[in-house]
Amino acid sequence: METLRAISLRRTVRRFKPRRIFEKTLLKILEAGNQAPNAGNIQTTRFILVTDPDLKKEVAKCAADQSWLTKAYVLIVLCSITDKVERNYGSRGKKLYAIQNTSLAAQNILVAATAANIGSAFVSAIADKTIRRVLSIPDNIDIHSIIALGYPERVPKCPAKAALADITYYSKWGNKTSEGFSIFPLESAAKSIKSTISKKLKRK
Ligand SMILES: Cc1cc2nc3c(=O)[nH]c(=O)nc-3n(C[C@H](O)[C@H](O)[C@H](O)COP(=O)(O)O)c2cc1C
Repeated sequence: METLRAISLRRTVRRFKPRRIFEKTLLKILEAGNQAPNAGNIQTTRFILVTDPDLKKEVAKCAADQSWLTKAYVLIVLCSITDKVERNYGSRGKKLYAIQNTSLAAQNILVAATAANIGSAFVSAIADKTIRRVLSIPDNIDIHSIIALGYPERVPKCPAKAALADITYYSKWGNKTSEGFSIFPLESAAKSIKSTISKKLKRK
């Protein structure tokens, strides 16, 4: 699937079919996560795969009791070796780079899953202490998020997203005036991208 199409089709899926994801497909998705940019390429993101039904129940309980998580084929618990980032980059590494590293891996996973027609959900409401105990995660490791993967029962509609022109500034914070810049006005750029994607979706 084309990258822009996968990005625009990705939705948080919370209803899954009881269907297996083949290992080969899962490995490709995880490899997409592994290929994400990360500070100094020191590779501090780790994935814990949970497919055992009883363990999935326990993990779902740790995630604010979101029981729909148990219906996913696999739960990927994303962790970060934050102290390693801190050793290399100090407090900015600890506060920011560690989270950025793992978030970028997460987004690659979400897009790669969509490209393979697999539904995904990024979940971050996690009781740290409990999931640490359930999955034997050492104290020096940060628990970042859970990604649920499975074939979607249905894909939700796209929720309202901000207009690009409302969230983008020129040169200075808050400046929406583009005079004097060689880039074309953002609103028409956003419209043209949206219409290209929707035309492509209609054709398929
Ligand atoms: C930091 C973060 C935490 C989230 N935690 C949860 C969660 O605990 N449960 C859930 O169902 N969705 C969670 N989501 C998914 C968002 O609800 C979802 O991305 C948002 O509603 C936009 O919908 P979309 O992903 O379909 O574009 C989380 C997303 C982010 C980025």
